[in-house]
Amino acid sequence: METSQDRIIIFDTTLRDGEQSPGAALNIEEKLKVARALARLGVDVIEAGFPFTSSGDFQAVQKIAAEIGTPNGPTICGLARATQKDIKTAAEALKPAAKGRIHTFLATSDIHLEYKLKKTRAEVLAIVPEMVAYAKSFVEDVEFSPEDAGRSDPEFLYQVLELAIAAGATTVNIPDTVGYTTPSEFGALIKGIKDNVPNIDQAIISVHGHNDLGLAVANFLEAVKNGARQLECTINGIGERAGNAALEELVMALHVRRQYYNPFLGRPAESTEPLTQINTQHIYKTSRLVSNLTGMMVQPNKAIVGANAFAHESGIHQDGVLKNRITYEIMDAQSIGLNDNQIVLGKLSGRNAFRTRLKELGFELSDTELNKAFVRFKDVADKKKEITDWDLEAIVNDEIRQP
Ligand code: KIV
Ligand code: ZN
Repeated sequence: METSQDRIIIFDTTLRDGEQSPGAALNIEEKLKVARALARLGVDVIEAGFPFTSSGDFQAVQKIAAEIGTPNGPTICGLARATQKDIKTAAEALKPAAKGRIHTFLATSDIHLEYKLKKTRAEVLAIVPEMVAYAKSFVEDVEFSPEDAGRSDPEFLYQVLELAIAAGATTVNIPDTVGYTTPSEFGALIKGIKDNVPNIDQAIISVHGHNDLGLAVANFLEAVKNGARQLECTINGIGERAGNAALEELVMALHVRRQYYNPFLGRPAESTEPLTQINTQHIYKTSRLVSNLTGMMVQPNKAIVGANAFAHESGIHQDGVLKNRITYEIMDAQSIGLNDNQIVLGKLSGRNAFRTRLKELGFELSDTELNKAFVRFKDVADKKKEITDWDLEAIVNDEIRQP
């Protein structure tokens, strides 16, 4: 396995940690739709679920492994606690994938050891290599996460990581499980790991972080500067509590500011090569799909994919943008797959504009469905000055998605 990475691996966990958002549960067919969209987006790894937790999750991981886990497709990953039954079940679900990864985890913070696991540090030091080696008996690609690393004693963390790598972990993932660290602390944690874990060069350093203080993306960018080469993230930043680091924000930060980040990856500063293999033009569509399927709305002022992210409201800004876009725009709307000319839909709009906008929002309707939705659209347009994307989604959901 190549570990001296000069590009960033994007590990998407929308279908695992993202699905841990209250109320965001997806059925198997919906998970497959998201997995297809993630493959089109170009993510390197899809964490498809936690197979031991339910037969639905097991089947979803298995189906995604079979359909999406082709030799040229992404690696398909399944989560497992550091126990034989979890790991064996994950291995079974991942069997159909050309490239399967088992991601096993065990907490390392004293808080988790004392109150949750009721285990000693010595016990953790014994379990980790044993379970990593067990995972390795099923797949070559094993990821280990010391849960709550952000609040763990760094010296203990170094010992655990060294053992995990010696037992065969090819990726070591550093989770800020409760979103507690600040960017400089998280960057220093990654640097400490690079400097103090003797065999760290045999593994990729990954980061995973929650957004309890709104710092997950900033923490990851500091981690990249200090040697992290895999970022674990979700579409629209969904996930447990305040969510995970948002894929679209990370990818676009690395894209827009690549000349700033190039030297940290050992590249010439002026290189224009992308830092990730994400096809950024699929970002908006994927965001809409995940929002529609999970029912989790994207706040209008959300970076990159919010409804206002590329809208200019004040006269001064509009004037500036009309003279030269770069006055108030740091990226093109087209770079995330938005149509630059905002088509304002109203009662005079035709079927073509209606169909085009729905496509942009990720809805592919049959002719019959389109006709049905168009009649309803005209009805709503008669009562409103302007039809927003929210209206369109409501029309499709009411007319087509409901039985
Ligand atoms: O937040 C966390 O620590 C996790 C681990 C399972 C990686 O989701
Ligand atoms: Zn998490």
